[in-house]
Amino acid sequence: MLLAKVSRERAEAVRKQLFKRRLGAKDRRILREGEHVFIPLVAAPPPGLAGELGFELTEGETREKSCYRPPYDLVLEEAGVPDAVKALLPRRWEMLGDVLILRLPEDARDHFAEAARAYAKVLGARTVLRERAHIDGIFRTPDMEFLLGDDAVTVHLENGILYKLDASRLMFSSGNIDEKMRMAALDCRGETVVDMFAGIGYFTLPLAMHARASRVIACEINPLAFRYLCENVELNRVGEVVEPVLGDNRELSGERIADRVVMGYVRTTGEHLRDAFRLVRKGGTIHYQDTFPLEIFPARALENLSAAAGDRGYEVALMREVKSYSPGVSHMVLDVRVLD
Ligand SMILES: C[S@@+](CC[C@H](N)C(=O)[O-])C[C@H]1O[C@@H](n2cnc3c(N)ncnc32)[C@H](O)[C@@H]1O
Repeated sequence: MLLAKVSRERAEAVRKQLFKRRLGAKDRRILREGEHVFIPLVAAPPPGLAGELGFELTEGETREKSCYRPPYDLVLEEAGVPDAVKALLPRRWEMLGDVLILRLPEDARDHFAEAARAYAKVLGARTVLRERAHIDGIFRTPDMEFLLGDDAVTVHLENGILYKLDASRLMFSSGNIDEKMRMAALDCRGETVVDMFAGIGYFTLPLAMHARASRVIACEINPLAFRYLCENVELNRVGEVVEPVLGDNRELSGERIADRVVMGYVRTTGEHLRDAFRLVRKGGTIHYQDTFPLEIFPARALENLSAAAGDRGYEVALMREVKSYSPGVSHMVLDVRVLD
């Protein structure tokens, strides 16, 4: 059978991507051999995917999972709640390190405790959080309730990078993994990068560690996220490359200092474009992310660019969807090459 051969460090990120694309074989065991992991596939991946995600295709056999049962089935069995409540238990969840995040509807409140215990047992979580509402405010603070445990500080491993965070107070968008992988695959040797919305290092760390940028100025306005950003820089040993800056990116000093400006933010990113143009040097690139209703895309994005560019010439080298954001609205990224 077809196997995806990948280094141990990248295995988890690649596995997630392959299963997301329904290419992973659920009934076969993943094989670990030395520094490599072999992920069994149900079909040949589309051309280019192996290069993009960083795996090799090979042939081989792995053992069948003797009695594979989907984790969700095990949760239902373990929870022991009435059928009406079972129907409310979510089929999807987010696991950050050993902290599990669930979107349980309020109607199931009387059974939150049993449900949390069941998910925790099946998925191996130490703490279970319930996401009450979507992230909010400039800091993108999540609204979480503890269902099990009282400590949500954890270390999440993604694409060979350690992200420490307090999952009850800070967001981590696993949905942006394609964009993080794209940034990780760039060759930024010799470059100075400005990450205008660094958070805990979502883009800063892949750019410093995998894309090997020479210098990353990582700006973050939320003191709590900034604290974890600094810890993550140490944890991943990129202190010589990353310069964390606490404050508003509109107050970053300098003109034409960056070969690359990363704008990992949505909803109001356009308000920061003028500063991105101020910071980027001739020949540099701005990765402009934002959310747009599809009926006004790309017109609105292009209007925002032309309003912010002043007399700088630029071209849009790429536009792609990062993820679907809400019905009719997408989180997009535009790579803008600044010509003069
Ligand atoms: C949480 S990240 C967005 C998510 C990220 N793109 C991802 O992939 O998960 C955005 C960060 O930008 C920070 N931020 C918002 N406005 C800012 C500003 N004016 N200057 C610097 N940082 C800012 C927020 O505090 C937040 O930590």
